[in-house]
Amino acid sequence: MTDPHTSDDLGARVEAAVGAALLAIEAAQTTAELQAAKAAHNGQGSALAALNASLREIAPEERKAAGQLIGGGRQQVGAAIAARQGELEAAEEAAQLEAERIDVTALPRLQRPGGRHPLTLLQEEMGDVFVGMGWEIAEGPELEHEWYNFDALNVDPDHPARSESDTFYVAPADRHLVLRTQTSPVQIRSLLTRELPVYVVAPGRVYRTDDIDATHLPVFTQLEGLAVDKGITMAHLRGTLEHLARQMFGEEARIRLRPNYFPFTEPSAEMDVWHPGMRGGARWVEWGGCGMVNPNVLRAAGVDPEVHSGFAFGMGIERTLQFRYQLDDMRDMIEGDVRFTEQFGMVI
Ligand code: FA5
Ligand code: MG
Repeated sequence: MTDPHTSDDLGARVEAAVGAALLAIEAAQTTAELQAAKAAHNGQGSALAALNASLREIAPEERKAAGQLIGGGRQQVGAAIAARQGELEAAEEAAQLEAERIDVTALPRLQRPGGRHPLTLLQEEMGDVFVGMGWEIAEGPELEHEWYNFDALNVDPDHPARSESDTFYVAPADRHLVLRTQTSPVQIRSLLTRELPVYVVAPGRVYRTDDIDATHLPVFTQLEGLAVDKGITMAHLRGTLEHLARQMFGEEARIRLRPNYFPFTEPSAEMDVWHPGMRGGARWVEWGGCGMVNPNVLRAAGVDPEVHSGFAFGMGIERTLQFRYQLDDMRDMIEGDVRFTEQFGMVI
């Protein structure tokens, strides 16, 4: 009969307990699983703890050797747990860092989304007011023939506006080309190319030798309007301009027509606008010119003034932007500073 506590028998049991412990430790994939393996194989109630407790029953002369055997096993298991703990902690930390990784070398999105200039947006908005009433958008060239810019508009050859001090003439002189000083030549182009009746607006850039200041630019934009039909009167002109003013400046906006002179309209008026939000308090400011189309202009464009009549107007789009947003200085509109543009919510 073998003594259950002979060293050979004990050796086998320690070896088995250590082997099972090492397998469980190696199998642990997380620190939590390792804690469980540790409790099962090295904690209270584990096989090794039970062997340790059984030392009491071993004969005193064998106890020392048995104690060393069990202690060695426990030490081996403890070392394996510590090593595995280190590995698993390192792996878990690496996984967490990877999950929280921020690439500090990645390029930020420096590119701003593109935006459109408030003048372009306003120009379209003004055009839309007329498109909404069934009018069409017309166009003409910025490099224009003198005949369209002046002669056909009843501007006689020695009118002061034709002088070199107002108009950019483009060489060679015998081609009679100018940078258009107004959008009014589009009136002539529209009448010559369209069937009557004609209801058009023509937004576009114009050029003058004006000195630059808070309310003047040498290159600016106008919106031209022309309606030619049977029975058109000054009342239609006024109603149309009032409608535009309210669309641009709000329901309380008013317009005022002051007698004036333009060669291409008769009668002619300067149009002022007023609205409560005007810069420097509500006041009247010049917005554009207008009038009934001069019969000479209708004739130059092949329209019989006995049958058809019309009205025309032209106003500055920079002025419209300026009055609408209480802008002190028109020069801000052309400096290309995105901080200016952004104030008006660049709608794409
Ligand atoms: C004209 O240009 C006429 N063609 C308007 C017209 C059209 C009259 C149809 C009758 C029939 P005027 O030179 O006043 O008129 O200019 C019209 C508007 O353009 C001005 O009221 C102003 O709003 C704007 N404007 C004129 N000069 C400048 C400038 N240098 N900078 C910015 N806006 C200007
Ligand atoms: Mg004027």
